Amino acid sequence: MVAGSPGGPELVAGIPAWRASEELRATLEASRRAGFIGETSLDDHLSHAAGFAAVVEHLTGAPPGLVADLGSGGGLPALVLAEWWRATEFVLIESQQRRAGFLHEVVQARAWTDRVTVLQGRAEVAGRDGRWRGTCDVVTARSFGRPGVTAECAAPLLRGGGLLVVSEPPSEGDQARWPPERCADVGLEPLGAFRVADQFGYEVLQQTSRCPERYPRRTGVPAKRPLF
Ligand SMILES: C[S@@+](CC[C@H](N)C(=O)[O-])C[C@H]1O[C@@H](n2cnc3c(N)ncnc32)[C@H](O)[C@@H]1O
Repeated sequence: MVAGSPGGPELVAGIPAWRASEELRATLEASRRAGFIGETSLDDHLSHAAGFAAVVEHLTGAPPGLVADLGSGGGLPALVLAEWWRATEFVLIESQQRRAGFLHEVVQARAWTDRVTVLQGRAEVAGRDGRWRGTCDVVTARSFGRPGVTAECAAPLLRGGGLLVVSEPPSEGDQARWPPERCADVGLEPLGAFRVADQFGYEVLQQTSRCPERYPRRTGVPAKRPLF
């Protein structure tokens, strides 16, 4: 399954056989019509989102118990992962009311309310909420923010040993984006870059020590003064 690549990203050979439901496809089409997701083909969106699951399962060998998705927008990758991992709990964190409202409607329509929570609000606030702080096995982020912002918003949510999985722009397998000494400020350690199906790139970091209480900083500060 794995082809090592010295000095480069680790290759995860493929996305396990899986067929998205018609409901999920219709949801993502609606999300696209609403302007919440981009014009990329639906199959590419689905495969890219499924790549998060491939990376996690490659590293842990099992579905996670609780996943937080930062800036869920129109549902990528969270809605895809919620269909993939049917027994996993999710919290979808999205500040924009329209997008969060859309996600909430989908969760209700799919009868996922017992395991999928849509949190309309800021990740900086969720990270200070005792309900979520230090609880997540995995945090996912796709197009959420620059690395320092993503790290600062994700680390408070992760339990010890938990994983942050971030999709990376195709051109940037650049490890300088995730300087280990800066990631360590929030208790994260970069595990490295992964490529799925030789197509999609992800950076994975592990919560190796507790995130200091001073993080995340106040709403808006991580983006205004990124840690890196
Ligand atoms: C570029 S979109 C990406 C959405 C989705 N993950 C995707 O890839 O299609 C970023 C989303 O993050 C949300 N967002 C940005 N900063 C946030 C924060 N600090 N807390 C919660 N949501 C945030 C925005 O409202 C927006 O919907």
